[in-house]
Amino acid sequence: MIEKIDEIKASIQNFSIESDADLEAFRLEFLSRNGKIQSMFGLMGSVPKEQKAAVGKSMNEVKILAQNRFDKAKDKLASATKKVFGALDDISLPVEPTYTGSFHPLTQALDEIKQIFLRLGFNIADGPELEDDFHNFTALNFPADHPARDMQDTFFIRKTDDPDTDDLVLRTHTSPVQIRLMKNQKPPVRSIMPGRVYRNEAVTAKSYFQFNQVEGLYVDEKVTMGELIETLVMFARLMYGSDVKYKVRPSFFPFTEPSIEMDVWWENEKGGQWLEILGAGMVDPNVFDAVGVDSEKYTGFAFGMGVDRIAMLRYGIDDIRLLYDNDIRFLEQFKSQ
Ligand code: PHE
Repeated sequence: MIEKIDEIKASIQNFSIESDADLEAFRLEFLSRNGKIQSMFGLMGSVPKEQKAAVGKSMNEVKILAQNRFDKAKDKLASATKKVFGALDDISLPVEPTYTGSFHPLTQALDEIKQIFLRLGFNIADGPELEDDFHNFTALNFPADHPARDMQDTFFIRKTDDPDTDDLVLRTHTSPVQIRLMKNQKPPVRSIMPGRVYRNEAVTAKSYFQFNQVEGLYVDEKVTMGELIETLVMFARLMYGSDVKYKVRPSFFPFTEPSIEMDVWWENEKGGQWLEILGAGMVDPNVFDAVGVDSEKYTGFAFGMGVDRIAMLRYGIDDIRLLYDNDIRFLEQFKSQ
């Protein structure tokens, strides 16, 4: 019996415990209910009376040895785990600052524009970025093969000579949404139409192949040029402050007659300059005819403004490319509040 006890003692000492799995294997082998120590105690009955005291003492020593090995190994494994998460021990240690996100300057400018026009009684409409030639040009009174189409360098997605199939383009402006709106809704119409537009232009600090516009359309009986200018001036004041310096001058667009453009004074280190922020005008009767609105009964005004220009002016950004680079160092400067 003494020999058997020594054998168990040796195997306890030689058992290698390097992991939680080893620890559990050790427990099962020695300390569990069916383990070697418990079964050793079960043999006590067959030990001769006069040896019982000595054998019992040895058995107890082995049991204590096994329990001690188990406890020590358990502590050691636990403190090794703790080292991995050592930083948690000292809550006064400095931590890396985390970057909280912010809205893109274009989104912020667009939100302000929307708020202003919602206040003025406009609602918001939407249209596709992939347009057909009819909506982007023809219905807007761009004559076929007329140089007016060259005003807007177009990305053609499908160009065809088949008279029954229309060309497809990435919309060059948001004005085609006017057409979709008037085809679906009888006057009165008073909506703004924000969206992304595309032009095949050289990329420079001032121009990019994509940008954002907000179109506006107001059609009803007796809408006047005076109301158009009043609306645009109101917009400029709400957007840039009541002391904003602006200029309205005559212009040309195929879909409005008469047409105007609005410039806003941009103060900068070099003194300042006039920047064009929008085109506008009275809806041309040919456009009403193309969508089936009675041009004898209704008049209307339309405008289209460049959101990128407006954001650049608002935040003093001098290179449009910064708006599309997604450089976090740039974007971080536009945290609101
Ligand atoms: N669609 C014109 C443009 O790109 C802007 C405009 C809209 C002008 C509505 C007049 C009326 O540039």
